[in-house]
Amino acid sequence: MEEKLREIRERALAEIAQADSLAKLNDVRVAYLGKKGELTAVLKGMKNVSPEDRPKVGQMVNETRTVIEEQLEAAKAAMEAEALDRRLQEEVIDVTLPAKRNKVGHGHPNTIALEEVERIFVGMGYEVVEGPEVEYDYYNFEALNIPANHPAKDEQDTFYINDKIVLRTQTSPVQVRIMEQGRLPIRMIAPGRVFRSDEVDATHSPSFHQIEGLVIDKNVTFADLKGTLEEFAKEMFGPETKVKFRPHHFPFTEPSAEVDVTCFKCGGKGCRFCKGEGWIEILGCGMVHPHVLEMSGIDPKEYTGFAFGVGLERIALLKYEIDDMRLLYENDDRFLKQF
Ligand code: DAH
Repeated sequence: MEEKLREIRERALAEIAQADSLAKLNDVRVAYLGKKGELTAVLKGMKNVSPEDRPKVGQMVNETRTVIEEQLEAAKAAMEAEALDRRLQEEVIDVTLPAKRNKVGHGHPNTIALEEVERIFVGMGYEVVEGPEVEYDYYNFEALNIPANHPAKDEQDTFYINDKIVLRTQTSPVQVRIMEQGRLPIRMIAPGRVFRSDEVDATHSPSFHQIEGLVIDKNVTFADLKGTLEEFAKEMFGPETKVKFRPHHFPFTEPSAEVDVTCFKCGGKGCRFCKGEGWIEILGCGMVHPHVLEMSGIDPKEYTGFAFGVGLERIALLKYEIDDMRLLYENDDRFLKQF
Protein backbone atom coordinates (compact mmCIF):
# COMPACT_ATOMS: atom_id res chain seq x y z
CA MET A 1 0.00 0.00 0.00
CA GLU A 2 2.74 2.31 0.98
CA GLU A 3 4.47 1.46 -2.25
CA LYS A 4 1.37 2.26 -4.28
CA LEU A 5 0.85 5.61 -2.59
CA ARG A 6 4.47 6.60 -3.22
CA GLU A 7 4.08 5.63 -6.85
CA ILE A 8 0.87 7.71 -7.18
CA ARG A 9 2.56 10.64 -5.51
CA GLU A 10 5.58 10.57 -7.77
CA ARG A 11 3.51 10.22 -10.90
CA ALA A 12 1.25 13.10 -9.84
CA LEU A 13 4.20 15.35 -9.04
CA ALA A 14 5.86 14.54 -12.36
CA GLU A 15 2.66 15.38 -14.22
CA ILE A 16 2.32 18.66 -12.31
CA ALA A 17 5.88 19.55 -13.22
CA GLN A 18 5.12 18.91 -16.88
CA ALA A 19 1.78 20.76 -17.01
CA ASP A 20 2.19 23.94 -19.02
CA SER A 21 -1.24 25.45 -18.58
CA LEU A 22 -3.84 26.01 -15.91
CA ALA A 23 -6.16 23.67 -17.79
CA LYS A 24 -3.62 20.86 -17.69
CA LEU A 25 -3.05 21.42 -13.97
CA ASN A 26 -6.73 21.05 -13.46
CA ASP A 27 -6.70 17.79 -15.44
CA VAL A 28 -4.05 16.48 -13.05
CA ARG A 29 -6.11 17.51 -10.04
CA VAL A 30 -9.18 15.72 -11.35
CA ALA A 31 -7.18 12.60 -12.29
CA TYR A 32 -5.82 12.16 -8.76
CA LEU A 33 -7.99 14.05 -6.29
CA GLY A 34 -11.30 14.20 -8.12
CA LYS A 35 -14.34 12.08 -7.26
CA LYS A 36 -13.14 9.32 -9.54
CA GLY A 37 -9.48 10.14 -9.02
CA GLU A 38 -6.80 7.58 -8.21
CA LEU A 39 -6.21 8.77 -4.66
CA THR A 40 -9.92 8.90 -3.99
CA ALA A 41 -10.11 5.32 -5.19
CA VAL A 42 -7.44 4.34 -2.67
CA LEU A 43 -9.41 6.04 0.06
CA LYS A 44 -12.49 4.14 -0.96
CA GLY A 45 -10.51 0.88 -0.72
CA MET A 46 -9.76 1.55 2.97
CA LYS A 47 -12.53 -0.84 4.01
CA ASN A 48 -10.33 -3.70 2.88
CA VAL A 49 -7.49 -2.61 5.13
CA SER A 50 -7.30 -4.32 8.49
CA PRO A 51 -8.59 -2.16 11.34
CA GLU A 52 -5.22 -1.94 13.10
CA ASP A 53 -3.52 -0.68 9.90
CA ARG A 54 -6.21 1.83 9.04
CA PRO A 55 -4.97 4.86 11.03
CA LYS A 56 -1.52 4.54 9.54
CA VAL A 57 -2.74 4.07 5.97
CA GLY A 58 -5.28 6.85 6.43
CA GLN A 59 -2.54 9.19 7.55
CA MET A 60 -0.41 8.23 4.56
CA VAL A 61 -3.26 8.87 2.12
CA ASN A 62 -3.84 12.26 3.72
CA GLU A 63 -0.18 13.17 3.51
CA THR A 64 -0.07 12.19 -0.16
CA ARG A 65 -3.15 14.28 -0.80
CA THR A 66 -1.65 17.26 1.00
CA VAL A 67 1.59 17.05 -0.95
CA ILE A 68 -0.23 16.86 -4.30
CA GLU A 69 -2.54 19.74 -3.33
CA GLU A 70 0.39 21.87 -2.26
CA GLN A 71 2.25 21.23 -5.49
CA LEU A 72 -0.84 21.97 -7.54
CA GLU A 73 -1.30 25.29 -5.70
CA ALA A 74 2.36 26.22 -6.08
CA ALA A 75 2.36 25.42 -9.79
CA LYS A 76 -0.85 27.39 -10.30
CA ALA A 77 0.51 30.41 -8.41
CA ALA A 78 3.72 30.32 -10.45
CA MET A 79 1.78 30.17 -13.71
CA GLU A 80 -0.47 33.06 -12.73
CA ALA A 81 2.49 35.19 -11.68
CA GLU A 82 4.18 34.47 -14.97
CA ALA A 83 1.05 35.38 -16.94
CA LEU A 84 0.73 38.65 -15.04
CA ASP A 85 4.37 39.42 -15.67
CA ARG A 86 3.93 38.81 -19.37
CA ARG A 87 0.89 41.07 -19.50
CA LEU A 88 2.65 43.85 -17.67
CA GLN A 89 5.50 43.57 -20.13
CA GLU A 90 3.19 43.73 -23.11
CA GLU A 91 1.07 46.58 -21.82
CA VAL A 92 3.89 48.74 -20.60
CA ILE A 93 3.23 52.48 -21.14
CA ASP A 94 6.09 54.85 -21.54
CA VAL A 95 4.82 57.89 -19.67
CA THR A 96 7.80 59.91 -20.86
CA LEU A 97 6.70 59.74 -24.53
CA PRO A 98 5.28 63.03 -25.81
CA ALA A 99 1.46 63.03 -25.83
CA LYS A 100 -0.56 63.14 -29.06
CA ARG A 101 -1.66 66.69 -29.70
CA ASN A 102 -5.35 67.29 -30.26
CA LYS A 103 -6.01 69.83 -32.97
CA VAL A 104 -8.34 72.54 -31.77
CA GLY A 105 -10.46 74.29 -34.38
CA HIS A 106 -10.43 78.04 -34.88
CA GLY A 107 -13.11 80.53 -35.80
CA HIS A 108 -12.95 81.67 -39.43
CA PRO A 109 -12.21 85.41 -39.80
CA ASN A 110 -15.56 85.82 -41.59
CA THR A 111 -17.38 84.16 -38.71
CA ILE A 112 -15.58 86.18 -36.07
CA ALA A 113 -16.29 89.43 -37.93
CA LEU A 114 -19.96 88.47 -38.46
CA GLU A 115 -20.41 87.64 -34.79
CA GLU A 116 -18.98 91.03 -33.92
CA VAL A 117 -21.33 92.83 -36.35
CA GLU A 118 -24.30 90.86 -34.98
CA ARG A 119 -23.32 91.63 -31.40
CA ILE A 120 -23.21 95.36 -32.16
CA PHE A 121 -26.57 95.52 -33.95
CA VAL A 122 -28.39 93.13 -31.62
CA GLY A 123 -27.17 95.45 -28.86
CA MET A 124 -29.01 98.29 -30.65
CA GLY A 125 -32.22 96.26 -30.78
CA TYR A 126 -31.93 94.74 -34.26
CA GLU A 127 -33.21 91.30 -35.17
CA VAL A 128 -31.02 88.91 -37.21
CA VAL A 129 -32.97 87.40 -40.16
CA GLU A 130 -32.13 85.33 -43.21
CA GLY A 131 -33.39 84.95 -46.76
CA PRO A 132 -32.89 82.47 -49.60
CA GLU A 133 -29.69 82.34 -51.65
CA VAL A 134 -31.65 81.21 -54.70
CA GLU A 135 -33.96 84.16 -55.24
CA TYR A 136 -36.62 85.47 -57.57
CA ASP A 137 -35.51 88.17 -59.99
CA TYR A 138 -38.41 90.14 -58.51
CA TYR A 139 -36.92 90.32 -55.01
CA ASN A 140 -33.31 90.67 -56.12
CA PHE A 141 -34.01 93.44 -58.65
CA GLU A 142 -37.51 94.57 -59.47
CA ALA A 143 -38.85 95.21 -55.98
CA LEU A 144 -35.63 97.10 -55.26
CA ASN A 145 -36.37 99.56 -58.03
CA ILE A 146 -34.03 97.86 -60.50
CA PRO A 147 -36.29 97.18 -63.50
CA ALA A 148 -35.37 95.09 -66.53
CA ASN A 149 -32.70 96.78 -68.67
CA HIS A 150 -31.49 98.82 -65.70
CA PRO A 151 -27.69 99.15 -65.93
CA ALA A 152 -27.28 98.00 -62.31
CA LYS A 153 -28.33 94.57 -63.48
CA ASP A 154 -25.20 94.42 -65.63
CA GLU A 155 -23.00 95.85 -62.90
CA GLN A 156 -23.88 92.92 -60.69
CA ASP A 157 -23.06 90.15 -63.14
CA THR A 158 -25.82 87.78 -62.30
CA PHE A 159 -25.95 83.98 -62.29
CA TYR A 160 -29.33 83.11 -63.76
CA ILE A 161 -31.11 79.84 -62.95
CA ASN A 162 -33.84 80.77 -65.47
CA ASP A 163 -35.38 84.10 -66.51
CA LYS A 164 -37.26 84.43 -63.25
CA ILE A 165 -34.79 82.93 -60.78
CA VAL A 166 -31.25 84.02 -59.91
CA LEU A 167 -28.54 83.39 -57.35
CA ARG A 168 -28.99 86.56 -55.31
CA THR A 169 -26.38 89.19 -56.12
CA GLN A 170 -26.97 91.05 -52.85
CA THR A 171 -28.67 90.57 -49.48
CA SER A 172 -31.01 93.50 -50.24
CA PRO A 173 -33.87 91.18 -51.34
CA VAL A 174 -34.23 90.15 -47.69
CA GLN A 175 -35.36 93.76 -47.02
CA VAL A 176 -38.25 93.27 -49.41
CA ARG A 177 -39.24 89.90 -47.95
CA ILE A 178 -39.36 91.39 -44.45
CA MET A 179 -41.22 94.57 -45.52
CA GLU A 180 -43.82 92.46 -47.33
CA GLN A 181 -44.67 90.72 -44.07
CA GLY A 182 -46.06 94.09 -42.95
CA ARG A 183 -44.95 93.93 -39.32
CA LEU A 184 -43.79 97.45 -38.46
CA PRO A 185 -41.58 98.93 -37.19
CA ILE A 186 -38.61 96.98 -38.61
CA ARG A 187 -35.11 96.84 -37.26
CA MET A 188 -33.17 93.98 -38.87
CA ILE A 189 -29.87 92.82 -40.19
CA ALA A 190 -29.64 90.00 -42.73
CA PRO A 191 -26.27 88.34 -43.17
CA GLY A 192 -25.74 85.87 -45.98
CA ARG A 193 -23.97 84.56 -49.04
CA VAL A 194 -24.28 86.35 -52.37
CA PHE A 195 -23.11 85.48 -55.88
CA ARG A 196 -21.73 87.36 -58.87
CA SER A 197 -19.98 85.98 -61.89
CA ASP A 198 -16.68 87.64 -61.06
CA GLU A 199 -13.22 86.27 -61.76
CA VAL A 200 -11.30 85.27 -58.65
CA ASP A 201 -8.58 87.70 -57.59
CA ALA A 202 -7.29 89.35 -54.42
CA THR A 203 -10.46 91.43 -54.01
CA HIS A 204 -13.11 89.43 -55.91
CA SER A 205 -14.83 86.09 -55.60
CA PRO A 206 -17.92 84.67 -57.34
CA SER A 207 -19.35 83.97 -53.90
CA PHE A 208 -18.97 86.27 -50.91
CA HIS A 209 -21.03 87.59 -48.01
CA GLN A 210 -22.96 90.72 -47.21
CA ILE A 211 -24.83 92.00 -44.21
CA GLU A 212 -27.94 93.96 -45.04
CA GLY A 213 -29.48 96.40 -42.58
CA LEU A 214 -32.97 97.86 -42.59
CA VAL A 215 -34.84 100.18 -40.24
CA ILE A 216 -38.41 101.28 -40.98
CA ASP A 217 -40.42 103.38 -38.55
CA LYS A 218 -42.21 106.69 -38.28
CA ASN A 219 -39.93 109.73 -38.42
CA VAL A 220 -36.73 107.88 -39.28
CA THR A 221 -34.27 110.40 -40.78
CA PHE A 222 -30.86 110.51 -42.39
CA ALA A 223 -29.53 111.68 -39.00
CA ASP A 224 -30.58 108.31 -37.53
CA LEU A 225 -28.74 106.54 -40.32
CA LYS A 226 -25.58 108.59 -39.71
CA GLY A 227 -25.68 108.12 -35.95
CA THR A 228 -26.27 104.38 -36.26
CA LEU A 229 -23.45 103.74 -38.73
CA GLU A 230 -21.05 106.00 -36.85
CA GLU A 231 -21.74 104.03 -33.68
CA PHE A 232 -21.26 100.77 -35.58
CA ALA A 233 -17.91 101.93 -37.05
CA LYS A 234 -16.58 103.01 -33.65
CA GLU A 235 -17.58 99.74 -32.03
CA MET A 236 -16.17 97.70 -34.88
CA PHE A 237 -12.91 99.54 -35.55
CA GLY A 238 -12.20 101.45 -32.35
CA PRO A 239 -13.50 104.61 -30.62
CA GLU A 240 -11.18 107.00 -32.53
CA THR A 241 -12.70 105.97 -35.86
CA LYS A 242 -14.29 108.79 -37.84
CA VAL A 243 -16.86 108.24 -40.59
CA LYS A 244 -17.45 110.12 -43.82
CA PHE A 245 -20.61 109.96 -45.90
CA ARG A 246 -20.01 110.43 -49.62
CA PRO A 247 -22.98 110.96 -51.94
CA HIS A 248 -23.56 107.95 -54.14
CA HIS A 249 -26.30 106.27 -56.10
CA PHE A 250 -28.23 103.11 -55.43
CA PRO A 251 -31.57 102.48 -57.15
CA PHE A 252 -33.29 101.42 -53.90
CA THR A 253 -32.28 104.39 -51.75
CA GLU A 254 -32.66 108.16 -52.10
CA PRO A 255 -30.52 109.89 -51.06
CA SER A 256 -27.74 107.32 -51.10
CA ALA A 257 -24.23 107.39 -49.71
CA GLU A 258 -21.09 105.40 -49.38
CA VAL A 259 -19.43 105.38 -45.99
CA ASP A 260 -15.69 105.63 -45.43
CA VAL A 261 -13.94 105.13 -42.11
CA THR A 262 -10.60 106.60 -41.10
CA CYS A 263 -7.86 104.10 -41.74
CA PHE A 264 -7.29 102.37 -38.41
CA LYS A 265 -3.71 101.62 -39.40
CA CYS A 266 -2.57 105.24 -39.78
CA GLY A 267 -5.50 107.00 -38.14
CA GLY A 268 -6.23 108.97 -41.32
CA LYS A 269 -2.77 110.28 -42.19
CA GLY A 270 -2.43 108.01 -45.22
CA CYS A 271 -0.43 104.81 -45.43
CA ARG A 272 0.18 101.78 -47.62
CA PHE A 273 -2.90 100.11 -46.15
CA CYS A 274 -5.33 102.85 -47.23
CA LYS A 275 -3.32 103.58 -50.38
CA GLY A 276 -2.39 106.98 -49.03
CA GLU A 277 -6.04 108.04 -48.76
CA GLY A 278 -6.48 108.00 -45.00
CA TRP A 279 -10.01 106.66 -45.60
CA ILE A 280 -11.36 103.21 -46.35
CA GLU A 281 -14.78 102.54 -47.88
CA ILE A 282 -16.83 100.05 -45.87
CA LEU A 283 -20.45 100.14 -46.97
CA GLY A 284 -23.31 101.56 -49.02
CA CYS A 285 -26.44 103.06 -47.50
CA GLY A 286 -29.31 105.48 -47.89
CA MET A 287 -32.92 106.34 -47.14
CA VAL A 288 -35.23 103.64 -48.50
CA HIS A 289 -36.69 104.87 -51.81
CA PRO A 290 -40.42 105.69 -51.48
CA HIS A 291 -41.11 103.54 -54.52
CA VAL A 292 -39.46 100.54 -52.79
CA LEU A 293 -41.62 101.08 -49.69
CA GLU A 294 -44.75 101.35 -51.82
CA MET A 295 -44.02 98.19 -53.81
CA SER A 296 -43.81 96.25 -50.53
CA GLY A 297 -47.05 97.71 -49.24
CA ILE A 298 -45.69 100.35 -46.88
CA ASP A 299 -47.10 103.89 -47.06
CA PRO A 300 -44.14 106.25 -47.61
CA LYS A 301 -46.16 109.16 -46.24
CA GLU A 302 -46.46 107.43 -42.91
CA TYR A 303 -43.19 105.51 -42.71
CA THR A 304 -39.61 106.22 -43.65
CA GLY A 305 -36.50 104.15 -43.23
CA PHE A 306 -32.85 103.62 -43.93
CA ALA A 307 -30.88 100.70 -45.27
CA PHE A 308 -27.28 99.69 -45.58
CA GLY A 309 -25.21 96.89 -47.08
CA VAL A 310 -21.83 95.83 -45.75
CA GLY A 311 -19.41 93.43 -47.39
CA LEU A 312 -18.47 90.92 -44.71
CA GLU A 313 -15.16 89.91 -46.31
CA ARG A 314 -14.22 93.55 -46.58
CA ILE A 315 -14.73 93.98 -42.83
CA ALA A 316 -12.81 90.80 -42.03
CA LEU A 317 -9.91 91.74 -44.32
CA LEU A 318 -9.70 95.20 -42.79
CA LYS A 319 -10.04 94.08 -39.21
CA TYR A 320 -7.38 91.39 -39.51
CA GLU A 321 -5.18 93.20 -42.04
CA ILE A 322 -5.43 90.41 -44.59
CA ASP A 323 -4.41 91.56 -48.06
CA ASP A 324 -5.83 88.76 -50.22
CA MET A 325 -9.44 87.64 -50.14
CA ARG A 326 -8.55 84.20 -51.49
CA LEU A 327 -7.00 83.34 -48.12
CA LEU A 328 -10.52 83.39 -46.68
CA TYR A 329 -11.68 80.58 -48.95
CA GLU A 330 -8.72 78.24 -49.10
CA ASN A 331 -9.15 76.84 -45.58
CA ASP A 332 -5.41 76.53 -45.14
CA ASP A 333 -4.91 75.38 -41.59
CA ARG A 334 -1.73 77.45 -41.22
CA PHE A 335 -3.69 80.59 -42.06
CA LEU A 336 -6.81 79.83 -40.06
CA LYS A 337 -5.06 78.88 -36.86
CA GLN A 338 -3.91 82.45 -36.42
CA PHE A 339 -7.42 83.56 -35.48
N1 DAH B 1 -26.87 95.98 -52.25
C1 DAH B 1 -25.76 96.91 -52.44
C2 DAH B 1 -24.64 96.19 -53.18
O1 DAH B 1 -24.60 95.00 -53.20
C3 DAH B 1 -25.28 97.41 -51.12
C4 DAH B 1 -26.24 98.34 -50.49
C5 DAH B 1 -26.17 99.69 -50.74
C6 DAH B 1 -27.27 97.87 -49.68
C7 DAH B 1 -27.06 100.56 -50.19
C8 DAH B 1 -28.18 98.74 -49.14
C9 DAH B 1 -28.05 100.11 -49.39
O2 DAH B 1 -29.18 98.36 -48.33
O3 DAH B 1 -28.95 100.94 -48.84
O4 DAH B 1 -23.80 96.85 -53.71
